[in-house]
Amino acid sequence: MTVIIDGKELAKKIRQNLKIDCDNLKNKGIYPKLAVIMVGDNPASKVYVRNKNKACEEVGIEYEEFLLGENTTQTQLISLIEDLNKRDDVSGILLQSPIPKNLDINEAFRTISYKKDVDGFHPTNVGKLALGQDTFVSCTPYGVIKMFEEYNIELEGKNVVILGRSNIVGKPLIQCCLNKNATVTVCHSRTKNLKEYTKKADIVISAIGKPKFVTADMIKDGAVVIDVGINRDENNKLCGDVDFENVKEKTSYITPVPGGVGPMTVAMLMNNVIKSANNFGKML
Ligand code: GUN
Repeated sequence: MTVIIDGKELAKKIRQNLKIDCDNLKNKGIYPKLAVIMVGDNPASKVYVRNKNKACEEVGIEYEEFLLGENTTQTQLISLIEDLNKRDDVSGILLQSPIPKNLDINEAFRTISYKKDVDGFHPTNVGKLALGQDTFVSCTPYGVIKMFEEYNIELEGKNVVILGRSNIVGKPLIQCCLNKNATVTVCHSRTKNLKEYTKKADIVISAIGKPKFVTADMIKDGAVVIDVGINRDENNKLCGDVDFENVKEKTSYITPVPGGVGPMTVAMLMNNVIKSANNFGKML
């Protein structure tokens, strides 16, 4: 029998614990605040941002939203970020992606002060993660690692296969798993004979964005399968990268979609905002 990892419940527990941390900071006169910037009119982003706002309310983090129009210039965006960097009341800054294509998101991400970079996208924080130093870890990989910790899933010496090499998920996951002494393999769209790798994996983490791509024949008996995908199937129903119903017959642990990694991502963002407020003014 597989264990279905309950990301929703775990995220709730994390938010409850963070509320205590947040109250303690407030008692010391520190009021954690998240500033969220959204540019343009992306419907999925609106849903994500609403969830982040709700989580902030639950934890007691102050929240300020900046909705910029589709025609915003790079100069305007950079200028807003620079203002937020200077503001003492703002502990964390998040620029919701995607932004309109004419804008340079990389410049925007690296303009956010690395001390307020609660997404963990700033090159300094990416570098610190690579060096195994204390930093803001991007929220989805951090959420996956937290799941392993909470469910006592040991990574040391395990064969971990990551599917996907995005800057937001796949690449930071390499470092996170290496820091836990796993043997890490990264597969992607150009990988040949993918199944040869996944079949040998003790742990498969899929972040490729293809509905039901990971099938039971690709998975070793007793493996752990973590599904980072959020896709729509042929009936427009939310589904992950993993063919959950069939794969779960072979796994020891598996995450569902929805209710798996998704809620953990938002919980770890809250964790990073509390951390940013705590470290405010100090070098991380
Ligand atoms: N868009 C989709 N996921 C994310 C995320 O984790 N952070 C930001 N800033 N934008 C996103």
